[in-house]
Amino acid sequence: MGISVYAKKDFSLSPSDLVVDETVFHNANGYLGVRSNFEEGYPDGYNSIRGTYVNGFYDFSYMGQAEKLYGLTEAKQIMLNICDTQSIKISFEGEKFSMFSGEIISRERLLRMKDGVTERNVVWRSPKGREVSIQFVRMASFEILPLFLIQVRIRPLNFSGRIRIESGHRGDVRNFFDPSDPRVAAENIQYLTVTEAEYRDGASSILAKTSKSGLTICSHVKNAISVQAERSTVQEEGEITEMITMDVKQGETITLDKFTVICDSIRYADPKIAARDALQRALNLGIEALFEKQRDYLESLGVYDAVEINGDDELDLSVHYNLYQLIQSVSKDLHGNIAAKGLSGEGYEGHYFWDTEMYLQPFFTLTIPALSKNLIRYRYSILDHARENARILGHKKGAAYPWRTIMGQECSGHYPSGSAQYHISGDVAYAVTAYYLATGDLDLIEECGAEIVFETARLWLDVGNYYKGKFHINEVTGPDEYTCLVNNNYYTNLIARHNLRWAVKFHELLQAAGCGQAVLQKIGLRPSELVEFARASDNMYLPYDEELGINPQDDSFLQKKPWDLSTITEAEKPLLMHYHPMYLYRHMICKQADTVLAHFILEDEQDEPTIRKSFEFYETVTTHDSSLSTCIFSVVASKLGFSEKAYRYFGDSAKLDLFNTHKNTKDGIHTANMGGTYMAIVYGFGGLRIKETGLSLQPSLPSAWTSYRFRFSYRGSLLEVSVDRSMVMAKLLAGPAQRVTIFKMVYELSDHLTISI
Ligand code: BGC
Repeated sequence: MGISVYAKKDFSLSPSDLVVDETVFHNANGYLGVRSNFEEGYPDGYNSIRGTYVNGFYDFSYMGQAEKLYGLTEAKQIMLNICDTQSIKISFEGEKFSMFSGEIISRERLLRMKDGVTERNVVWRSPKGREVSIQFVRMASFEILPLFLIQVRIRPLNFSGRIRIESGHRGDVRNFFDPSDPRVAAENIQYLTVTEAEYRDGASSILAKTSKSGLTICSHVKNAISVQAERSTVQEEGEITEMITMDVKQGETITLDKFTVICDSIRYADPKIAARDALQRALNLGIEALFEKQRDYLESLGVYDAVEINGDDELDLSVHYNLYQLIQSVSKDLHGNIAAKGLSGEGYEGHYFWDTEMYLQPFFTLTIPALSKNLIRYRYSILDHARENARILGHKKGAAYPWRTIMGQECSGHYPSGSAQYHISGDVAYAVTAYYLATGDLDLIEECGAEIVFETARLWLDVGNYYKGKFHINEVTGPDEYTCLVNNNYYTNLIARHNLRWAVKFHELLQAAGCGQAVLQKIGLRPSELVEFARASDNMYLPYDEELGINPQDDSFLQKKPWDLSTITEAEKPLLMHYHPMYLYRHMICKQADTVLAHFILEDEQDEPTIRKSFEFYETVTTHDSSLSTCIFSVVASKLGFSEKAYRYFGDSAKLDLFNTHKNTKDGIHTANMGGTYMAIVYGFGGLRIKETGLSLQPSLPSAWTSYRFRFSYRGSLLEVSVDRSMVMAKLLAGPAQRVTIFKMVYELSDHLTISI
């Protein structure tokens, strides 16, 4: 069993490190997320990002376009900072506790992944010599999703005296902004207005409404203290503070349990009543039971067993950290998805991208298929918006998923690197197919998957056109955002072909199963359209360069000005922060895996020698400025047997947030990269593939490891694969026997089998 506690002893108190730790130690449960700010606050000048977020809760923000061209987006949805209920100020005989005064005798921060809590433990000596031990335990509950809990345990070590706690609850908060960074919001706007604030029955309640989206949210706070105390409240505009004062003896521990419950009007008819009910449920259960349920939930998901690495503890920890964050980030209902930064920060304003389908969903499909199903249903829930988006883009038919969104409308302000990324529609269809191949769940295809795939297939017919007998897709942007608005992006054409093919296949599968009539009728899909889907996919143009023996990224990529990667200094990275987009677009330079990603997800579309040459070529032109890149290079390097490279790329991916290697973890975790770390192990080192031909494995063991293993679900069975120096073992842990191909040999797995290597 690997390492389950991430501990930071003597953590740095510098502002730039603390703001990163706010992200790294945030608490979330897929519904709400709270950054790990110091409860007692910071000295002036500390640029802390104090945030509490709810997945899918948004307001509109005006996004003015200087030149009002038809159809450009002028309003975007943004995830809001909801309230601040973290504030807990403690004073001892009038001396205020602060990490920045007196002396810190010891300090540590912990993330206990199996318990689903974070901890901050401090022993502090006040300027006048009073010593106290203070522990903060924080949890975003998986049992009661609207619940966030802070437990504070205080023990005077060398004195008896008066302790005073000020526990705050603020509703008039704002979002973080930075006009100089395109990856976060540029404007300082008050989106939420407090409409009601009251203290009743021992709890404070603040109701706020958004300015444009017409949503309301209620935060409810109750402080429970373990000893007899004097209590009073102070109410200012949009803020209620409870003062709790008590006498405490030396060596005695007092406990404050601060319950925050947040309910929104998206999920609850009456957020205020819902918040009261949820609070009551939490109080009835009691804090110990809540902690226990947290552990049980995490255990029941089996995430901790999804992967284990032996031989490199740091990597094992990083991988578990990443998988834990995926659980914290994924919405547990259909009103949200997985934001690029999860619920840990405001980078990318809480938007959902293709990251979900291509980087995150593989983990859920293989580990918790029920959550993967939710992600598909979420995309289905915004299908009408995708249809409307297609019309805005000028298409008579089909659905174009927005490049970035919260509840369905396009939120990208820069269309060359945003709306032009048509591949997202093919990616959504790809995830539906991948889910089907891994689960065999035709019911979901009938319920909603087929409609998504048919409508996105229709889009491609309208986007592309025939030229000299081949189907071309022009003026789109592929995954690589340093190359925009091009003709025949290889990745896009391939994902479109896959989408078109699967529209035909799903139609056949549904017909064969005697179902699917409802969707055909609903969208009026005609047989002639199916013929056109097949014709376009069979004739899809895929760029290929004879001389280099590679697939060029698009029709013009190889004509562009070369840019020697070795001349780019660290100070210039990421290039997008230092060069005009036009300058980047004119060069043969990639921000991230593009063709290399296509060579992985649709590997059978190309032979191995070409994939090898392509990989080597794209390595020389890719900066990996996007966090979605190195994990894919790792998978493909593993496939090609470049084991050292695969390991290096994997390490870069696995450690990205824990070591802040992209220097922007302060704005939030990089969820896609975290899912990519999982892919680098399971698809990369494990060589797992699930195709129409079935399940296959091609495992290899990185030389730094002694062994590793992973577990995954496949068509109703739970399988485990372990690899060490001498053998590969495949085990059927539950469910029916499965056929599996290992190193190109086919086996019937009904119990376990061992293959020597
Ligand atoms: C990447 C995109 C990604 C987005 C959100 C950008 O930097 O280029 O591919 O979807 O970040 O993670």
